[in-house]
Amino acid sequence: MSKIREAVRDRYATKAKSFSADQSCCGSDCCAPAAAEEAISCGQHYESSELSQAGLDSSISLGCGNPLLLAELHPGESVLDLGSGGGLDVLLSARRVAPDGHAYGVDMTDEMLEVANANKARAAIPNATFLKGTIEQVPLPNGAVDVVISNCVINLAEDKGTVIREAFRVLKPGGRLAISDIVALKELPPGVKQAVDAWAGCISGTIPVDAYRGLLVDAGFEGVEIQITQRHDVEGITGAIASAAIRGSKPLVT
Ligand SMILES: C[S@@+](CC[C@H](N)C(=O)[O-])C[C@H]1O[C@@H](n2cnc3c(N)ncnc32)[C@H](O)[C@@H]1O
Repeated sequence: MSKIREAVRDRYATKAKSFSADQSCCGSDCCAPAAAEEAISCGQHYESSELSQAGLDSSISLGCGNPLLLAELHPGESVLDLGSGGGLDVLLSARRVAPDGHAYGVDMTDEMLEVANANKARAAIPNATFLKGTIEQVPLPNGAVDVVISNCVINLAEDKGTVIREAFRVLKPGGRLAISDIVALKELPPGVKQAVDAWAGCISGTIPVDAYRGLLVDAGFEGVEIQITQRHDVEGITGAIASAAIRGSKPLVT
């Protein structure tokens, strides 16, 4: 396992244990350094009525947006969440596609999968499945799902091209991609770029919008749209990173 992947896994294993100890996202280190975490994450992107109906709590979110707002899910659809963490987006998706649809989450961190399964049991949502695996090698067959979502995870991958090609592979023809992620608006100082800790904190693995768009187009996605939704003022790198809403679709004929 690479040093970066190990740092990412260790960070989110620790985070998962803090969830188990009932600490909220905002009280510990989320997908960002302490100074920026409230701005980037902490679940402020969800409707409280939807959460309370589902018996869920936004404090389990480590995301940087709400990919469900982009995904426009319909009953009967199948959904995959890349890097599902504590399971919030999977469980909300499962409710939206019920009763005949299904939501899958894939995550490499055992401790996160445990939290997600505990949240699933607590919310009594049957049509959700959490799979252990990497987003570089998704454990689902070709053309398995209608929609791929992801929330603040692809920036953590060392080989983003492989992840985006996997998203394309598992989508059905005509399927949709809806991602919230952090992107780079300007070059980061070399010290930040090389810091493994800053990578695991969703900063130094970020890439510029044009590079992100290029990877999506190269993988075969059409109708690619990338919209900056929130700029994050992190100390020392003011104006360098932002949350983005990213959309695309797999052509009907490839
Ligand atoms: C910042 S958290 C986001 C979790 C979730 N999407 C949310 O919005 O709360 C990142 C999650 O992605 C997982 N992850 C990071 N890199 C991964 C990879 N290469 N393969 C699978 N899971 C990964 C981590 O284990 C962690 O649970």
